[in-house]
Amino acid sequence: MAKYSIAVLPGDGIGKDVTDTAMMVLEKLGLDAEYRFGDVGWEYWCREGNPLPDRTIQLLKETDVCLFGAITSKTADEALQELSPSLAGKGLKYRSPIVQLRQLFDLYVNLRPCKAIPGNPLNYREGIDLVIFRENTEGLYAGVEFHPLPSEVRKVLEKHHLGMKRFSSEDDEDIAISLRLMTKKGCRRILKKAFEYARRFGRKRVTLVEKANVLRETGGLMIREAQKVAETHPEITFDVANVDALAMWLVKNPDQYEVLVAENLFGDIISDLAAQLVGGLGFSASGNIGDNYAIFEPTHGSAPKYAGLGKANPIAMINAVIMMLEWLGELDRSKALEKAVREVIFEGKVRTYDMGGSTSTTEMARTVAEKIA
Ligand code: NAI
Ligand code: MG
Repeated sequence: MAKYSIAVLPGDGIGKDVTDTAMMVLEKLGLDAEYRFGDVGWEYWCREGNPLPDRTIQLLKETDVCLFGAITSKTADEALQELSPSLAGKGLKYRSPIVQLRQLFDLYVNLRPCKAIPGNPLNYREGIDLVIFRENTEGLYAGVEFHPLPSEVRKVLEKHHLGMKRFSSEDDEDIAISLRLMTKKGCRRILKKAFEYARRFGRKRVTLVEKANVLRETGGLMIREAQKVAETHPEITFDVANVDALAMWLVKNPDQYEVLVAENLFGDIISDLAAQLVGGLGFSASGNIGDNYAIFEPTHGSAPKYAGLGKANPIAMINAVIMMLEWLGELDRSKALEKAVREVIFEGKVRTYDMGGSTSTTEMARTVAEKIA
């Protein structure tokens, strides 16, 4: 039996193209693993009315980790139009597979390393090397939303909060509420992961990204928990930044940050900002990590107009593979792959279109694979 069982979900569009390249580098690394391919994405929504079939969930349950390509998703109207006629009128609703998987497997960490690979022409600046820990299951994306506002909910809110008075002339239909729901447990576990990571990899600074001067209750809870976790990591400098100010500082002095930790929405936005500083969608990858399972993926989507054309930069997916290997504890292999990527980028002989070149997806990945020592 192989040491690892790895679920591979290529998905749609360039998801398939870059997954092929992941398999190329994994083969070259000689990882002792069995790869089990699964179905996910738009095709399965149209054909089966479910972009994440039950057999795929079962597959993930039987494996150690998952590598995810990218999927296509469309508006609710388009989803209904493209559904197979035999499934029409059954009340089926499209739900994002990756959001479902995060909840099903309690993948509460969204990890996004942003490292400027020396010589990448897309680097905003050299020397950027930061890691973002985004809480992945609650906060403003908890999914507790109302529209119209149910009158019982309204009554309770009016009874318990004077702030509701200002809105008393609005009809229920004219009010929408999305709850920023944060728990002590949710805050604590993402903070712990961020600090543990800093300790393990010798990082000197952890910055909590919040907005507690306005979002006093949720932000306050997060800061109190952060201070407790920080106390148990005295060797690490801890500071709190307001999310709006941080957006400016990240552009001004990106090389001064090491580990950022944030609630779901703030983390989502900061993650994309930071990804663009180090090469954008052709380079950015993330991990969805829980206590027992993890899914690694490039940040980009299925880029339908480039599907099958060999234009996609495979480095984002290869960076996802590097993260997966690190999570599995395969540190020698993750380092070997990272070194190969760095050499290829630094030499600059092959560049995909996003880097201003014309190297194909496969050629780029082959060059990386050949560099693996
Ligand atoms: P996208 O990320 O697929 O592509 C946007 C643009 O970024 C592309 O047109 C291309 O110019 C560039 N790009 C993306 N990946 C690249 C790569 N590897 N190399 C070079 N350039 C690259 O985002 P878009 O066009 O907004 O969405 C397309 C589909 O993907 C939609 O259906 C969307 O819902 C879905 N999507 C899925 C995600 C996922 O699977 N996690 C994430 C984001 C979007
Ligand atoms: Mg995002």
